Amino acid sequence: MEVVIVPDAAAGGELIAEAIAALLARKPDALLGVATGSTPLPIYHALAARVKDGTLDVGGLRVCQLDEYAGLPAGHPESYRSVIAREVLEPLGLGLERFLGPDGTSADVPAACAAYEAALAGAGGVDLQILGIGTDGHIGFNEPCSSLASRTRIKTLTPQTREDNARFFASPDEVPHHVITQGIGTILEAGHLVLLATGAGKADAVQATVEGPLSALVPASALQLHPHATVVVDEAAAARLRLADYFRATYAAKPAWQGL
Ligand code: GLP
Repeated sequence: MEVVIVPDAAAGGELIAEAIAALLARKPDALLGVATGSTPLPIYHALAARVKDGTLDVGGLRVCQLDEYAGLPAGHPESYRSVIAREVLEPLGLGLERFLGPDGTSADVPAACAAYEAALAGAGGVDLQILGIGTDGHIGFNEPCSSLASRTRIKTLTPQTREDNARFFASPDEVPHHVITQGIGTILEAGHLVLLATGAGKADAVQATVEGPLSALVPASALQLHPHATVVVDEAAAARLRLADYFRATYAAKPAWQGL
């Protein structure tokens, strides 16, 4: 696992946008897995700025979804499909034909999950998956004690995650209890995992992810199993890392050609 400590969220966004640009230079029709929440927004802003100034061509880019609320009505502004359309597809000028996501409105949730697994496999798999992290160490919506081998399925949110996500809804009661999420086993099949974490509220979860034991109690610790996982953190989120100085020195000495 590579850990990169950046000065702030904007620098993290730029760095990850650069890695995505390098991926697109190698593979113009790459499948990019996108996460929601506030943390990845600087990545999407940095990508959109590059598209706008003509330095990035996303003509072949495909985008897929990490997770979704179950049971929100189609077109609900806080469904993750709507959020991705608003924050990623529209700013990058991508149509819905470039997008893959689970159907959170389906009455047959297991069928919707199986269909999404099949769609990801049919698309050739995710090349680079952007991840955020919950305060309890979840990735996607894989809450603590999710199977490390799990596939796309329904999950129940913890009270903490519902509270964390209440800011997006008119009232806390409106946050759904149930979600569909790529499983940890599904996520681990992506070619490159890039987790961005910013702010002091993520410092404990980051420390447990990077330095703690591999444990279903901290779902993001599954990144330790992946041969190409990058964790990008700002100073506040890095505050509890015991090996912070080692990570800084390693990155500072890294040859530029290696990229992330
Ligand atoms: C939600 C999403 C996660 C995201 C997390 C953290 O639970 N399902 O993918 O990582 O929120 O969000 P934020 O980046 O806003 O802290």
